Amino acid sequence: MSSPLRLGIAGLGTVGIGVVKIVQKHAGLLAQRSGRPVAITAVSARDRRKNRDADLSAYRWEDDPMALALAEDVDVFVELIGGDAGIAKDSIEAALRSGKDVVTANKALLAMHGQELAELAEGLGRVIRFEAAVAGGIPVIKAMTESLAGNRINRVMGVMNGTCNYILTRMESAGLPYEEVFEEARQLGYLEADPTLDVGGIDASHKLAILSSIAFGTRPAFDAVEIEGIERVSIDDIRRAADMGYRIKLLGVAQMTARGLEQRMSPCLVPADSPLGQLAGGTNMVVVEGDSVGQIVLRGAGAGEGPTASAVMSDVIELARGVRLPVFGVPATSLSDSQPARTAVPAAYYLRMELLDKPGALAKITTVLGDAGISIDRMRQYGHKDGSNVPVLFVTDRTTPEAIDHAIETLPKTGVLASDPVELRIEEV
Ligand code: NAP
Ligand code: HSE
Repeated sequence: MSSPLRLGIAGLGTVGIGVVKIVQKHAGLLAQRSGRPVAITAVSARDRRKNRDADLSAYRWEDDPMALALAEDVDVFVELIGGDAGIAKDSIEAALRSGKDVVTANKALLAMHGQELAELAEGLGRVIRFEAAVAGGIPVIKAMTESLAGNRINRVMGVMNGTCNYILTRMESAGLPYEEVFEEARQLGYLEADPTLDVGGIDASHKLAILSSIAFGTRPAFDAVEIEGIERVSIDDIRRAADMGYRIKLLGVAQMTARGLEQRMSPCLVPADSPLGQLAGGTNMVVVEGDSVGQIVLRGAGAGEGPTASAVMSDVIELARGVRLPVFGVPATSLSDSQPARTAVPAAYYLRMELLDKPGALAKITTVLGDAGISIDRMRQYGHKDGSNVPVLFVTDRTTPEAIDHAIETLPKTGVLASDPVELRIEEV
């Protein structure tokens, strides 16, 4: 059998320790599947004395990840520290320059600096793999770069932040408000150290930007994602949406249009009986639509020690087998500008408002919608006590975001709204 593929693992947290455990548990299997043994040479983290739930005594310890990046007895630098800059970026660059391939799970870094890193790697004849960076254990990067390479991708979308999906499904099942479930998620340890990465839609947008690049052959453009998190989703909207046959999901959608690349991350309604609508808890789902294959739905654990380490190991095995692909599927220098476009693809919308209990109030609202060119598909007025505010829901026919924005701006001028109207896009899935 050939010489071992030697790993240097930087970062021994949830994912890093998961990788160590797989290398130890499946040594024989990995060697058989890779055609050569896979060995860990050295590891690095901040605190050497921390109890890490794995025996690391056989590996050289380095306090500085840079030492691993430069080590002569390391073939693959496995970056599992995280962060879109600092030591993660510096050590990856150093590893590439010192002739190593890189495996990482770092979505923030790839979304923000993927182009620069890909050009560096490919210029040096090196490879960066990142299966774990998007949707944890779901093999979506390989599916898109390899299995679906014969398709023009029309649209890619998904639920790619397990914490947000947990919060939204728990709000619905327990009938609890956002703030209470957010606190529950914090206590369960589901939230990132900076929770806005999760609930603000940023983590999921990092993943969407990476998928867009692979799908459309464009430079990763995180800054161009229109992002809205789940903070304004209320239990009222979750209940009302359910009444109309929908569930609310933090959904990322990327599609190439004649005007450019639309990338949006926002709370959307999806049919409750669709695969996305059925997705509960911390699970992720990615839906890819190709011109020949049609719709592919990939579902699985988007985070956690085992699933994420499983994805890291698939990259390691690929490198051990000698598979060497461009970082984003095509040479980095051939990736085009993404031509970001604001969302203009028409969709149906959910509109919820509270009206004053006055004669003609509803007529004023429907006139504004009609004047904006918005046609109503369904409408529901909920029971209320005389003189108290009247909850009203509309599901519109397909219309443009521009028309909805115009209506939302005009509605307060009717003088019959008791509170700001809520609008949510109903994504066709
Ligand atoms: P984590 O549990 O916070 O572990 C981070 C590790 O990096 C720790 O071992 C830490 O050392 C080490 N570290 C931090 N700063 C360092 C420094 N300056 N020098 C050396 N080591 C340093 O993180 P994680 O959850 O495993 O995530 C790792 C990466 O995987 C991130 O990019 C994350 O976004 C990505 N990812 C994670 C998941 C998941 O489910 N957790 C899923 C998909 C992708 P100490 O242990 O000594 O503090
Ligand atoms: N915070 C992320 C999530 C971790 O909840 O999905 C995996 O990227």
